[in-house]
Amino acid sequence: MFHVISIRDFSRDDIERVLERAREMEEVYETGDDRLEGKILCTLFFAPSTRTRLSFESAMLRLGGDVISMVGKEAASTAKGENLADTVRTVQHYCDVIVLRHPKEGAARLAAEYSSVPVINAGDGANQHPTQTLLDLYTIVKEKGRIEGLRVGVLGDLKYARTVHSLVQALAEFGARIYLISPPELRIPEHVRVDIEGKAEVTETEDVTEVLPELDVLYVTRIQREMFPDPEEFEKVKGSYKITRRMIEEYADDDLVILHPLPRVDEIEPDVDELPQARYFDQVRNGVVVRMALLDLILNG
Ligand code: NCD
Repeated sequence: MFHVISIRDFSRDDIERVLERAREMEEVYETGDDRLEGKILCTLFFAPSTRTRLSFESAMLRLGGDVISMVGKEAASTAKGENLADTVRTVQHYCDVIVLRHPKEGAARLAAEYSSVPVINAGDGANQHPTQTLLDLYTIVKEKGRIEGLRVGVLGDLKYARTVHSLVQALAEFGARIYLISPPELRIPEHVRVDIEGKAEVTETEDVTEVLPELDVLYVTRIQREMFPDPEEFEKVKGSYKITRRMIEEYADDDLVILHPLPRVDEIEPDVDELPQARYFDQVRNGVVVRMALLDLILNG
């Protein structure tokens, strides 16, 4: 394993290997160890983040490694006109692995072409977020014991949410049944749909209550406001879907697992958080063990 750019670069076996290592990391998460001592992780974030950057940094520190960080394009020489290729050709000399978030699709792939150290894509525009998918899959297996045959609903901004683009590709590969739930304006891009329809049973709907009783997992996403090229387009769909406590109590199975990559804006009402089905804050913890596993596999083999 070298660069981590798209979930499509991973075979099912590769993913199983990460999940297996993540299970071993549950204990290390508590005790810490020094297996990455002497290694340096650089987080290079040109777009906002709370969880992804901090969980990678926490993962590295828990394994005894060190972290250097460059956050915000205003802080970097990008503000002086440096291009990404030159930034990466510089930063590679300071660290053993680069975690990159960038507002442009394809940025991680480009960075990987210029880097002599592994590049991990922490989100490139509306394209891909492969490490989020690994932690989503880990969470699903932890909660449900399997992925194959599960009925997984993906709700919200299927057009711009990169977490969804990565996740549905992996779910299809693992034999889940996929329900795409969104307003018509926020449908999944055609190329992603065609790709997953070849591998999995896919149902599309606008009404979450229609499919809620059937679901094993409901994955909710916020509307990706910053990705909209036109603010009017955002105004039209703003607030167009919302998971309420009543909805879950009335339609959902007791064993439903509700996930969300976070941040949550207004698409899940706060009083849903107390329901047993709400697992999105447990999902956050899983993000650390999965990233510990990934760093260990990349830097130690
Ligand atoms: C997601 C992202 O950045 O794509 N956040 C995350 O990494 N947990 C989801 C989002 O921003 O909506």
